[in-house]
Amino acid sequence: MTYWLKSTTVSLLMLFAQKIWATTEVEILHWWTSAGEVRAVNELKAAMASVGYQWIDSSVRGGGGETAMTVLKSRVLAANPPLAAQIKGKEIQEWARLGFLSNLSSVSQEQRWSSRLPAFVTEIMQHNGKFVAVPFNIHKVNWIWLNKDVFRKYNLPVPTSWTMLNEVATKLQAKGVTPIALSNQAWQQAIIFEIVALGIGGNEFYRKAFVENDIDTLESQKMIQVLKQFKRLSVYYDDEAQGRDWDAATEMVIEGRAAMQIMGDWTKGEFLAAGKVAGVDFACIPAPGTQDSFIYNIDSFVMFDVQNAEKQKAQIELAKIIMTPDFQKAFNLRKGSIPVRNDVPLDQFDECAQLSHQSLTAAAKNGNLLPSYTQYMATTSDTGGAIYEVITAFFKDPSMTPETAAHRLVAVVKAAMGN
Ligand code: BGC
Repeated sequence: MTYWLKSTTVSLLMLFAQKIWATTEVEILHWWTSAGEVRAVNELKAAMASVGYQWIDSSVRGGGGETAMTVLKSRVLAANPPLAAQIKGKEIQEWARLGFLSNLSSVSQEQRWSSRLPAFVTEIMQHNGKFVAVPFNIHKVNWIWLNKDVFRKYNLPVPTSWTMLNEVATKLQAKGVTPIALSNQAWQQAIIFEIVALGIGGNEFYRKAFVENDIDTLESQKMIQVLKQFKRLSVYYDDEAQGRDWDAATEMVIEGRAAMQIMGDWTKGEFLAAGKVAGVDFACIPAPGTQDSFIYNIDSFVMFDVQNAEKQKAQIELAKIIMTPDFQKAFNLRKGSIPVRNDVPLDQFDECAQLSHQSLTAAAKNGNLLPSYTQYMATTSDTGGAIYEVITAFFKDPSMTPETAAHRLVAVVKAAMGN
């Protein structure tokens, strides 16, 4: 065969192969839209493309996933679910109970997920003893992110108590620097409240309030103390905080327009996307009073039950890739979290990831692992959302007292539980 004929044949074969391969589309609904999140999710797109699947991105902006969940619910009601979706924590059980999710038993057995995952993660991913969700990572929530240059410039100590944090923030404000990058979005304020609650109330208080929704704890003196410190932070609110997305708040810290952000370690993904280095440009410190505890948030995908064999194959492939050690490493190096598999070496991960891993190991040993209520790890979005509303109203309204807020918390929790 002459050279031109050979190369034309090869090209035609490649085109033909691409055409066949490109026919299986995988539509995924998720809320990873910030710079760091896009870098992380691109790893999955590329891995799926390498085995011939075409990624159809249905991303819905809005950290915390509230808007994404609304969109998902309406799609499912219209009998038009995506192939897979980002669903987390207690919500997984709800969807599984309603019979919408594919059973991932075969792939989970093939890859031996149960022996690769911490037991608390397996429990979240299973329904009636079978895997119905595939996990990506472990995010730690109880962090504060600091711009090191700003702290250096004003010679400020790293806050190790809430009183110290208030003092540092007041000094920064006097220098014209926004001390804490805030937003008026309910879920972001709820995260700060969750972190302050752990820092001031401790593990037992946190568990009783947010896991057991214990009424006495919700209106206790300790809760009043927590609410007071939380409200104390509202003096750092600025007019532009209106509707500010969490990643825009991180950008303020990256650029030194704000000194700190109180947020989970998806924040680190933004610093990394901006070319910043942990320990050099920014620091991750445990929120005051939470040094020995770990509030976790696990990202996961579920697959919607489909009859089409091609689509089922694509779902299995997707789940398989997510759980491979190589993908776990590539994704988490960009996402800010740590791999959920217990056999992925962390030697290429930065100091924040190392700290997160140490803190996870110690907290698991000492019974200090806590589910994030704002991230649906402790309750479903119904109870979580009801708490958000009270918290954000309290934060924004200077005239609402901590006592009124505590009474309202009790009322909404009772209503959400149907009492
Ligand atoms: C998700 C994270 C995400 C963050 C902000 C959280 O609910 O678990 O993966 O980065 O929202 O979008």
